Amino acid sequence: MDFFDSVWDRVAEDYATDVPLYPLQVEAIKPFLEVGCSVLDVGCGPSKQANHLCTDTRTYIGLDASEPMIRLARERVGTLQASPMFVRGSATALPFRDDSFSWAMSLNNTLGILPNWIAREHAVSEMLRVARRGCLIEVLAANRLEVVSSRLFRDRLGKPQPYRSARFTEHYFRRLAKTYGVKAKFSYVRQSTNFSYYFLAALTV
Ligand SMILES: C[S@@+](CC[C@H](N)C(=O)[O-])C[C@H]1O[C@@H](n2cnc3c(N)ncnc32)[C@H](O)[C@@H]1O
Repeated sequence: MDFFDSVWDRVAEDYATDVPLYPLQVEAIKPFLEVGCSVLDVGCGPSKQANHLCTDTRTYIGLDASEPMIRLARERVGTLQASPMFVRGSATALPFRDDSFSWAMSLNNTLGILPNWIAREHAVSEMLRVARRGCLIEVLAANRLEVVSSRLFRDRLGKPQPYRSARFTEHYFRRLAKTYGVKAKFSYVRQSTNFSYYFLAALTV
């Protein structure tokens, strides 16, 4: 597995319990997912959004590099209409053929926790390769209290968060949209409880 920080294995249980579902996130993403579409959720974690976002989709596949996250996701999606499947894999080398899905999505700043900007762009190009309609990427714009946001890690691991999540701008996604010949649309989605601000970038064909 390239580029995987095993800290996610260790915090999986706590992440599943502590990180809430954000209604504004669901509101911003759901309109894109037309009835009968297929969705790949890259870095799905415990997949807490699946039951809310993918009720009318034909296929939902969650991909994550962490085995414990995948186990938790399998336990969680009991009520999903689409037959959910979960695979272990890397965001930067998706194990799917071109155009396998309608949409790829990556939520809660999964893109930002990849180790560098080369890996992040690689992940976006992979999502655009496997999804016919485009990708929906929720990222961190600003974090006013970094110290609070790292609490989950500090409390659980007994040491500081081992990395700083990247922050994103619309300009970054406009540049990627130009490179890959897609359109970029933005919606400001939400502020989380720890003073982090997230937005949704939709890169659509
Ligand atoms: C911030 S969490 C987001 C989880 C979920 N998308 C959500 O909205 O709650 C990041 C997730 O990315 C996964 N991850 C980290 N590196 C990865 C990689 N290289 N490829 C795939 N998943 C990865 C972690 O295991 C973790 O589940």
